Amino acid sequence: MKTAKPDLDLRIDRALELPMYQQICQRFKTAIEQGSLHAGDRVPAVRALAAELNLARGTVEMAYRILTDEGYLQVRGAAGTVVSPSLPPPAILKPQVVMAMAGQAHAATVDRDGKAPKPLQMGLPALDAFPRKVWNRLVGHRLRGSELARLGYPDPAGYARLRERIATYLGVSRGVTCVPEQVFITTGLRNTLELTLSSLSTVGDEFWFEDPGYILARPFLQNAAVKLIPVPVDEHGLMVEAGKRLSPNAKFAMVTPSHQSPLGVTLSLERRMALLEWASNAGSWIIEDDYDSEFRYQGRPLPALKSMDRNDRVIYSGTFSKVMFPGLRLAYFVAPVSAVARFQAVCYNLNAGCPYLFQAGVADFIAEGHFSRHLKKMRLLYADRRAVTSRVFQEILGDRIRIDLQPGGLHILAKLADHEDDVMLAGHARTAGLAVPPLSRWYINAKPQQGLLLGFANVIDEKDAIRLALKLKQALT
Ligand SMILES: Cc1ncc(COP(=O)(O)O)c(C=O)c1O
Repeated sequence: MKTAKPDLDLRIDRALELPMYQQICQRFKTAIEQGSLHAGDRVPAVRALAAELNLARGTVEMAYRILTDEGYLQVRGAAGTVVSPSLPPPAILKPQVVMAMAGQAHAATVDRDGKAPKPLQMGLPALDAFPRKVWNRLVGHRLRGSELARLGYPDPAGYARLRERIATYLGVSRGVTCVPEQVFITTGLRNTLELTLSSLSTVGDEFWFEDPGYILARPFLQNAAVKLIPVPVDEHGLMVEAGKRLSPNAKFAMVTPSHQSPLGVTLSLERRMALLEWASNAGSWIIEDDYDSEFRYQGRPLPALKSMDRNDRVIYSGTFSKVMFPGLRLAYFVAPVSAVARFQAVCYNLNAGCPYLFQAGVADFIAEGHFSRHLKKMRLLYADRRAVTSRVFQEILGDRIRIDLQPGGLHILAKLADHEDDVMLAGHARTAGLAVPPLSRWYINAKPQQGLLLGFANVIDEKDAIRLALKLKQALT
């Protein structure tokens, strides 16, 4: 049997004229009507609630008696008191309904609703292949051995050992030379952007944003105090010259150089150099979003743009969402040397920090070699899943889609003909239970291409790929 939710708000207001027992009645009725207490849920014992609210037991007893008489509660002797199982469903809009309505705004783009992922959902690593046993052991070990000091507040800039591990990893794998003090731990890209803007921006600063560009960063930035300048992208990545024409003195430029989101192209060397040169001359900051660069299936992973940053202009942003799993909510950035003090101050003033336990778990995961082993395995697995998915989808849907495989990443872009309506088709696919967001939604001003974005990391084998491709084919007809 479920017990009443701990976040149930039963606080009473002693300043109100309404007697306290009536206030309690009112709170329970509201909770039941709004769906945060369900039929059959156990409510707190009289003694416990009286102690929690600092009231006489008699006051709570009176409230429970009234609620029982009115049919809201049912007393079950030793089994406690429960919300009456025979209550009709709540008459008013349930929170779930409200949440579903709120979710509709981005439902057709990227699924982030805490539910089991849908097939083909982009942005997810292979959840079935993550070494959960190892992870559980490492975190369990930390949990059992936790010292008293670890129950206090974490360092808002991040757990020191993890910052060290990341600095070493970046040096070896991404060519990024940095010291641990430059590494800040965050809960994800948006937290990174929040700290970056708080540290380095002033109201009205212009901000280059790839067009098309990462769809979940856009609303965050549009709500921030910067002016978004969409800069077009072609097969060589961000068009730096266009950016210079549109906004020569922008304070920021955000790029996905290794694997452009969503087109998958790589920022050419020429453009990388042009971008760095512009940032040095204009005194601007480049935010390098290096979200899934570890996965490259042709040749070696490219060094990060940050590795070429001779003039300290690049804020390097990485995440554990793809290389481990996104439920972890751990990411990081490397601050330019000249800005470390500002980031440090902003972190201490604005940032709550991340839970110690998971940071320590990740530090151990890296230190014991599981991280590099996992990456190595995933590169092979993804190369396989990508090849199978693209071949099968091309074979089965060849008359509707065209797949140009890009060298890296965790999704495939299935292009559609110009006359197709990718938003409508993605909607049909969604009705069939598939999450294939429409490419056109990633665009702001540039002429949108029509296409569907297919996450291949969780397509487990050829049989699975065939089943999904046939399902998509049926949804598109
Ligand atoms: C383009 C891009 N940047 C960054 C991220 C990582 O975001 P986070 O660290 O918040 O999970 C993602 C995740 O899907 C992404 O697609």
